[in-house]
Amino acid sequence: MRLVLALLLSLVLAASPPAAAQQATDVSPSTGEIDASAVTGRHGMVASQEAQASRIGAAVLARGGNAVDAAVATAFALAVTLPRAGNLGGGGFLVLHRAGGEPVTIDFRETAPAAATPNMFLDAAGNADPLKARFSASAIAVPGSVAGLALAHEKYGSGKLSLAALIEPAVRLARDGVPVTGDLFETLTLAERRLGQWPSSAKVFLPGGKAPAEGALLKQPDLADTLGRIAAEGPNGFYRGPVADKIAATVKAAGGILTIADLAGYRAVVRPPVRGTYRDYEILSMPPPSSGGVHLIEMLNILEGYDLTALGAGTPAALHLVVEAMKLAYADRAAFLGDADQVDVPLGKLLSKDYAAELRRGIDPAKARPAATIRPDSPALGGGGANTTHLSVVDRDGNAVALTTSLNFNYGMGLVADGTGVLLNNTMDDFSAKPGAPNAFGLIGSAANAPAPGKRPLSSMTPAIVLKDGKTKLVTGAPGGSRIISTVLQVILGRVDFDLSPAAAVAAPRVHHQWRPDVLLLERAIPPATAQALAAMGHTIEVGATSGSAHTIVVTPEGVVGVADRRARGAGAAAE
Ligand code: GLY
Repeated sequence: MRLVLALLLSLVLAASPPAAAQQATDVSPSTGEIDASAVTGRHGMVASQEAQASRIGAAVLARGGNAVDAAVATAFALAVTLPRAGNLGGGGFLVLHRAGGEPVTIDFRETAPAAATPNMFLDAAGNADPLKARFSASAIAVPGSVAGLALAHEKYGSGKLSLAALIEPAVRLARDGVPVTGDLFETLTLAERRLGQWPSSAKVFLPGGKAPAEGALLKQPDLADTLGRIAAEGPNGFYRGPVADKIAATVKAAGGILTIADLAGYRAVVRPPVRGTYRDYEILSMPPPSSGGVHLIEMLNILEGYDLTALGAGTPAALHLVVEAMKLAYADRAAFLGDADQVDVPLGKLLSKDYAAELRRGIDPAKARPAATIRPDSPALGGGGANTTHLSVVDRDGNAVALTTSLNFNYGMGLVADGTGVLLNNTMDDFSAKPGAPNAFGLIGSAANAPAPGKRPLSSMTPAIVLKDGKTKLVTGAPGGSRIISTVLQVILGRVDFDLSPAAAVAAPRVHHQWRPDVLLLERAIPPATAQALAAMGHTIEVGATSGSAHTIVVTPEGVVGVADRRARGAGAAAE
């Protein structure tokens, strides 16, 4: 039935104007189910969007690897088994809690090529050109994943397993093939048109010019060779030599600006996490160029002033406060956030409890505040869509990794660098093409997030770790574009305020408001009576798509619980 719907959607889209069709084909084919399954273990745990990749990570833990080793092996495996989001040609963020040590993050966000300019995504009339920002080769930013995963292994791995040993399972899967079922089958079918525009992509993903039949084996020999080079040479096997040459040649032939020099110059960066507290818990998350950690903590600071537990999980009164906090934080995101290496971001203010108290005074507990009264100088525009993937790892020593990675859209640009098997991202769309113009997720920004050489586009990815008394309690994160930050918030509230079981905290139906557009999105599983109560408080309600899948680990007195969020088909948690 789901496939029939997917195919019908493709047919409808085929008759639509190109811009609408291209954007809509990037909507994630969520299962539409709001469900989560939990695995309990005594030692280590891996939870990710694809069960085989989770098992590969768990096997690394069983061989004596630590959480970082397992995360690296899982991430490389996802580049093969979940090619729509797992990747070598994209970027991401890793947050690491080290038992007994200082937490760190690794920023392996893509960077703008040296030839990027602030006006590169404007048309002749000076208007933002979304097609150029999303679907032209100028949308391809310098990939960061290989550098980030290698840096994580080098600096924070156990030292017991080589990078080659962690990549080996991915090489094997790419060479021997993975069955095209479930999510892979559906997303390849949906992406057929975009992938089919590029012969190099069709060669890999569309045998005979069509998406593979269900159950066929997808072999990716070029990707296996590329992974083998990285295993043998480290990041130089990707950023220099034949793979880099082929990436740059493909981008150039497609009309893009990324060069060999951009690839050779890419660096992943170790940064301190943003830190906050929420009730008795400590929160660690990603600093800029992610907006996720900053606004997660900002929303938690606002909500700390309310007794959500007394209001009750899923009640209109509690959801209303959560939504009002979201609006305020997302408005700040648009106003202030960008790559803090290149622009001033008022982190101290945004993360402070005093500022949260000031914002809280603007919240009416009974009435929705119109978005237009929050930062009224900004235009109201919007959109939607999603893709990215998240994995969580805890090892037997209590080290924890939250890693979120992305190609931006499903299958990124849809363009494989010829002869490498590497799908390239379209992450330049996460810049603001023009102050006030929305990106594919309806997010607007200011000049702080304008494209510039070497700059990292602002992200919503929110890998997060929750500690109590210095020990890991919860590891989470999600895909979902703008909905990532609100998803992570609600998983944390589910555990901390509402004492939900790990699976229930992940499965609980979610709400989302990103200030602009002034619309409250509800997952379908929100009861109609709740929706009506929220509408009566003045919220403009839209019921529809599910939020991203938050593969989460919770440490409980009974054991380590890995939760696969069934909003994504094929997700799985695996114990050591
Ligand atoms: N590409 C989605 C994000 O980074 O927020």
